[in-house]
Amino acid sequence: GKEKGNVKPQLVALLSPDVLQLLTVIGETAASENQNAFIIGGMVRDILLEQKGEDIDIVVEGDGMALAEKTAARYDGTVSVHETFGTATVTFPSGRRVDFTTSRTEYYETPAALPTVSRSNIKEDLYRRDFTMNAMAASLHPSDFGDLIDYFHGRDDINKKTLRVLHNLSFVEDPTRILRGIRFEQRFQFRMSKETTAFIHYSVSAVSSLSRSRITSEFQTLFKEADPVRSLERLDELGILPIFFPGAVWTSQTKKVVETYLDSPEKPEDLPEWFCILFCLYLGQAGSIPSAETAAVTKKQKSIVQNTSLLLSLLNEKEWNSPGRFHSHAYHIPEEALFFAAIAADHDQAGFLRQYQKKRRELRPLLDGHDLKAAGLKPGPDFRDYLFSIEQKMLDGEITTRKEALQFIRQHK
Ligand code: CTP
Repeated sequence: GKEKGNVKPQLVALLSPDVLQLLTVIGETAASENQNAFIIGGMVRDILLEQKGEDIDIVVEGDGMALAEKTAARYDGTVSVHETFGTATVTFPSGRRVDFTTSRTEYYETPAALPTVSRSNIKEDLYRRDFTMNAMAASLHPSDFGDLIDYFHGRDDINKKTLRVLHNLSFVEDPTRILRGIRFEQRFQFRMSKETTAFIHYSVSAVSSLSRSRITSEFQTLFKEADPVRSLERLDELGILPIFFPGAVWTSQTKKVVETYLDSPEKPEDLPEWFCILFCLYLGQAGSIPSAETAAVTKKQKSIVQNTSLLLSLLNEKEWNSPGRFHSHAYHIPEEALFFAAIAADHDQAGFLRQYQKKRRELRPLLDGHDLKAAGLKPGPDFRDYLFSIEQKMLDGEITTRKEALQFIRQHK
């Protein structure tokens, strides 16, 4: 049943006066229409954890859209309605946003002929949520401001620092909740309950129903918010890393590669963090790099995987010491692949790669086609070869000036 409790003291202590006033006004406005408004979800959790809730979600027993309009009008905000979700977002001049949702109320006649409001919809709304700590609401009605609605003992779980799903199908309904769970464990120093981890294991087959983009965006959020190494450790502990990324394993070797990546001062800028970190898992296991292609979603990511593979086999072919000669095999390889290959390669090879990368980056043409013509060469496809040969000599330090480049042309024409 519903647990009694009131969080008004916490709301007063934790919220800024203007947010508290806003919630009071929303509650009063709803009440003046015989409706009830509640804060719900993450904000209630944060309040009980004595943290400032930033995102405000309001659920209204009545007409959420109308309440959003009234609230916006009063504070000079703007409303955007999302018809399909039945929600409205009010954006205030300060930039703060508040989401409003309608929870249908059902009125039914009692024998005494007085209409009674059924709260079954708020309960259903809460029951659809991920964890007990996220499945609470608090009333904003002036008569019971701050009264907690806690059908699933979320407050007990918060006190016990336990993360618990509401029912056995929670992860089947939405397997991204597995990753949310790992994130919340770390954020609040909570621990999943035993049944919760068991439900994870029952729901692994549902992961295949998730789109790649939902998985990757959840990983992006996880890695950004939490410590990626600890998150990977936890995924490994739960035995579910390969469920999300086939072929990915967590070993002391892959851990080292991930840590090398995380400590790198110059990370590739145009690749998402989730991709870089997961790619490191594949890089840490000799021979499994090609399977990283299944984890890559964009063309660019696939090309990085392929080029990194190519570079590493090039490095294994022989011992390279001339950046110029290496250039004829690697000139087309993108910077990002050089970066990842250096992370995966052994010490000497990595040193060579970084040296090549640095020199290649610093290359500035000493001559152009006009210079070749002026030197008496006939324009044609050879021009490219001449200019490329000069680049190679520059990489090897054999040509450093324009004068030396022109001399090279004269000698070789
Ligand atoms: N929710 C859910 N299942 C999901 C995502 C969200 O049940 N896969 C519910 C939870 O009740 C959550 C609420 O929707 O509290 C809002 O979701 P969201 O804003 O993503 O999370 P918050 O809990 O607010 O956490 P955060 O502080 O990270 O925003």
